[in-house]
Amino acid sequence: RDFFLKCNHLSGKKVLISAGPTYELIDPVRFIGNFSSGKMGYALAEDAAARGAQVVLVSGPVGLKPLHPGINLISVTSAAQMAEACFSEFKSSDITIMAAAVADYTVTDPAPVKIKKSVDKLTIELSKTTDILATLGKQKQAGQFLAGFALETDNEKPNALSKLKNKNLDMIVLNSLNDQGAGFGYDTNQVTIVMADGVETEVPLKSKKDVAAVILDVISARQ
Ligand code: CTP
Ligand code: CA
Repeated sequence: RDFFLKCNHLSGKKVLISAGPTYELIDPVRFIGNFSSGKMGYALAEDAAARGAQVVLVSGPVGLKPLHPGINLISVTSAAQMAEACFSEFKSSDITIMAAAVADYTVTDPAPVKIKKSVDKLTIELSKTTDILATLGKQKQAGQFLAGFALETDNEKPNALSKLKNKNLDMIVLNSLNDQGAGFGYDTNQVTIVMADGVETEVPLKSKKDVAAVILDVISARQ
């Protein structure tokens, strides 16, 4: 019975999750990307769907497929496309988790044809992308729960706390890249969950699947 209750704890809720990297085109055959595998976001999507939620998964290019029938996949490539999909899905979402590694900069003027190696030094101008999470934080209404991730290599806790505050989040998940076997590409992760009210949960190194379950336990407890 406990199992049944937990499994259906999010039934009737819409959960929006972003996952994976974004690719910013330089020309038709090249891009600027990052090493995000999408594993953390997909694990969150599977776990939320297993709890009965209606899940919308906005995913950048990854080598993964959602398995649970309760997951609606929206595939995107660039940060701009990810922003558009997240903005249109956010209003009707009860819980939103931005797990994607969104590019901070995009190519100002992508070349319409393949760039030839005609010069010795090539300069590509980049422009800042829209901060999706910060924009959602501004749009957030009472009753909506908004979570983000923070990837830091130094001054971790203070940097994560300022993201929590500045982006008007209810939760931030601090990823530790310092530890062996945590973060980009790995199947495991080590995180610290920090809530807006200051409550912290240290999650020791576990599979991303198990980390996802802890994150959704914490969120479910606040619904
Ligand atoms: N994020 C976003 N839109 C962006 C950049 C980041 O929604 N254009 C989200 C990420 O999905 C993550 C959170 O913001 O949930 C924090 O991302 P992170 O890269 O750690 O921080 P930034 O705010 O981008 O700042 P910086 O990279 O300079 O540390
Ligand atoms: Ca960033």
